[in-house]
Amino acid sequence: MATATADREQWGSRIGFVLAAAGSAIGLGNIWRFPYITGENGGAAFVVLYLLCIAFICLPYLFAELALGRNSQKNPVGAIAAIKARTPWMLVGALCVLTGVFILSYYGVVAGWAFGYIFKGLVAPATDAGTYFASFIADPWTVIPLMGFFMLFTISIVASGVEQGIERASKVLMPILLVLILVVIFRSVTLPGAGAGLEFYLNPDFSKVDGGVVLAALGQAFFSLSLGMGAMITYGSYLPKSENLLVSGGYVALFDTAIALLAGLMIFPAVFAMGQNPSEGPALVFVILPEVFGAMPLGSFVGAVFFTLLSIAALTSTVSLLEVVVSYFVDETSWSRKKSAWLVGGFTFLVGVPSALSQGGSDFFTNQLQLFGQTGFLNIMDYIWGNVSLALGALLLSIFVSWVWGADAAVRELQQGADGFTGMAVAVWRFFVKYVCPLFIAAILVGKVLGTI
Ligand code: PFF
Repeated sequence: MATATADREQWGSRIGFVLAAAGSAIGLGNIWRFPYITGENGGAAFVVLYLLCIAFICLPYLFAELALGRNSQKNPVGAIAAIKARTPWMLVGALCVLTGVFILSYYGVVAGWAFGYIFKGLVAPATDAGTYFASFIADPWTVIPLMGFFMLFTISIVASGVEQGIERASKVLMPILLVLILVVIFRSVTLPGAGAGLEFYLNPDFSKVDGGVVLAALGQAFFSLSLGMGAMITYGSYLPKSENLLVSGGYVALFDTAIALLAGLMIFPAVFAMGQNPSEGPALVFVILPEVFGAMPLGSFVGAVFFTLLSIAALTSTVSLLEVVVSYFVDETSWSRKKSAWLVGGFTFLVGVPSALSQGGSDFFTNQLQLFGQTGFLNIMDYIWGNVSLALGALLLSIFVSWVWGADAAVRELQQGADGFTGMAVAVWRFFVKYVCPLFIAAILVGKVLGTI
């Protein structure tokens, strides 16, 4: 069995871990994807389903990833090897690491757009938002350098270490994020006509719910909490045995959910107040919102604030995507943290170039490339890695923890630092990780592959 090395890094404090893990969870998924998926799926009823998925499926699964990480004090490959060395299960760890590289490659592209949009109100306040966005993302000389900048920020944080880099950055960035969100919400809900947006967002109409909506809610919940690719295994591996994983994990889920809900509160009142359509899909944040900002008092300021907060949220997530891969190289090879961060980050940047060119920059990557019913490199990557691979990883990891490692061993790990975790609570958790999680995750996977979501 692999043992933890004495000099392995650790978080400096509970709040440091919670902010870093919440930083991983809170990202484009909360502020870009959650509102548009909510808009496409009918509003409040989707939100209710999302909350149920977080509470009953994602939370028990989150504890499983954290327990696996802290048990071994290793990256996803090492964590599995510590329990089942030299078995095909190690491929699940490898899948986590690969998924980290590939999600980061295209996530960094969208993060770069958000970063560039901070300045949009200054450089092009009056242009038509749809036309502007289309030409912005099609220009290689804009999007590739922006993605590059974003990767540089990400690499420099990860290269500085767990406590000195990731924890320190999260402690500064996360409070700023919250304050900026509150600024935008205040502007949004005080616009005349904001009430219709609140109604759409907060008043559920369950007639719009079908199986596809349930699976979309579950898939979004997994993506949002950074589950299924070992990010929480990795972050959990830097926790001491004295830490209460249930309490800390609970905070992470709580913050992530709160920010997703607040993102809806920023966006829907403004969209309705300005007479826009909430079901515009991925363009909601980059086209509809700039139109909303363009038409409201103080709009270019609010726009700059909004895209700053989106960039901050994305940055703490790209950090965790890179950290999963870097932790693998640091634990399993002789590479230093700095070398791993620069090499993996540089490689990921190159893998991201076709995604950056897939929004009009290159006809081949934009239109000609088609696979699994998706058109364009970025969409194909998101389908394979952000959808199927995360669901597959979550399915295999939940089976690994509850059946291969064994629910009893996982319970013993969770009980370290959480003496009160006994009796009924243990029985409930076991039931959920052994049966409910694998079954529902398998349903998302089948739904994704059959193309219903
Ligand atoms: N949770 C992030 C978001 O909501 O944007 C995305 C993500 C980050 C997914 C890290 C997976 C991951 F490992």
